[in-house]
Amino acid sequence: MANPLVLGIESSCDETAVALVRGDRTILAQRIASQNEAHERFGGVVPELAARAHADRLAPMVAAVLAEAGVGLADVDAIAGTAGPGLIGGVMVGLVTAKALAMAAGKPLIAVNHLEGHALSPRLADAALGFPYLLLLVSGGHCQLLLVEAVGRYRRLATTIDDAVGEAFDKSAKVLGLGFPGGPALERAARAGDAGRFALPRPLVGTPEPHFSFAGLKSAVLRARAAMAAPSEQDIADLAASFQQAACDCLVDRTERALAQVPGTTALVVAGGVAANQHIRGALLALASAHGLPFVAPPLWLCTDNGAMIAWAGVERFRVGDIDDLNAPARPRWPLDPEAEAVRGAGVKA
Ligand code: KG4
Ligand code: ZN
Repeated sequence: MANPLVLGIESSCDETAVALVRGDRTILAQRIASQNEAHERFGGVVPELAARAHADRLAPMVAAVLAEAGVGLADVDAIAGTAGPGLIGGVMVGLVTAKALAMAAGKPLIAVNHLEGHALSPRLADAALGFPYLLLLVSGGHCQLLLVEAVGRYRRLATTIDDAVGEAFDKSAKVLGLGFPGGPALERAARAGDAGRFALPRPLVGTPEPHFSFAGLKSAVLRARAAMAAPSEQDIADLAASFQQAACDCLVDRTERALAQVPGTTALVVAGGVAANQHIRGALLALASAHGLPFVAPPLWLCTDNGAMIAWAGVERFRVGDIDDLNAPARPRWPLDPEAEAVRGAGVKA
């Protein structure tokens, strides 16, 4: 079927999201409910609170999306739900909801890897993007370079050996007192800052394999902050800008290293929550241009977690006949490339 209609459900972290997407890239309706208020006072996502919020919200959101689109479950061709990796309580809530809908409506279930959702999301936004492409996948739990060869074929070229870049943004923002969620807050603070003021490390830059490391950078931010007894707003802005520049330099250097390993790539693509960062997007655009490659980045709302990317991954998998049975397990860890060597920190979402 060339133009399937798929309902997508996302619940692997702190966004509850549902969307109805068609094969021709129309988003018929979608809802995204963030849980920021529930987790804000803890300074991070509390798994049990997240799972309960997903359980409370999902059923009414599914009903609202179907009603807005004016379609019934009988009109849907498949139900796609995130089956991992992620916080297991939330993943189970979303996957069980997807299974119940699939069973009730007699429709196929597609158990989607959250990372596959991010990896294919640029193709929802850009009809011209073909395979293979080099993907920098940067989120709160992941930092990977993948060669996307086809739907279902992802070759991991590199991953982080400690923290994900989004985690480094979130922890640095917390240390700087910038609030939660940290990534967007740090980007805002950095706009008024001098990126050259603090000399921060760029871990692994220049090494032959394109892996990432952010733990040392995060600790350096902590030390620089601790060295200032009563920092002014400008001091905080300068440290935020210095951190963002260091993280960006690491991403660009590692991505350039990976580009050299995949001469046939047709585009440089970035996806995942950190891809919402304008400074990083600008630097990657410059890198792609220098290599004569198109640069593809999904619109900001599609970078952070959402239901449309899960529905779209469902569309792509449905088209190639890759559906699941109702026993599909919820998986807290689920690397996209099963052949990739295990690296501590890879394939987990903190
Ligand atoms: O993809 P996502 O919504 O959830 C995961 O799958 O992890 O990514 C969330 C991550 C968080 O670490 C958040 O701070 C980061 O993406 N993020 C940003 C920005 N917007 C979101 N990091 C830097 N700059 C941003 N503008
Ligand atoms: Zn994500």
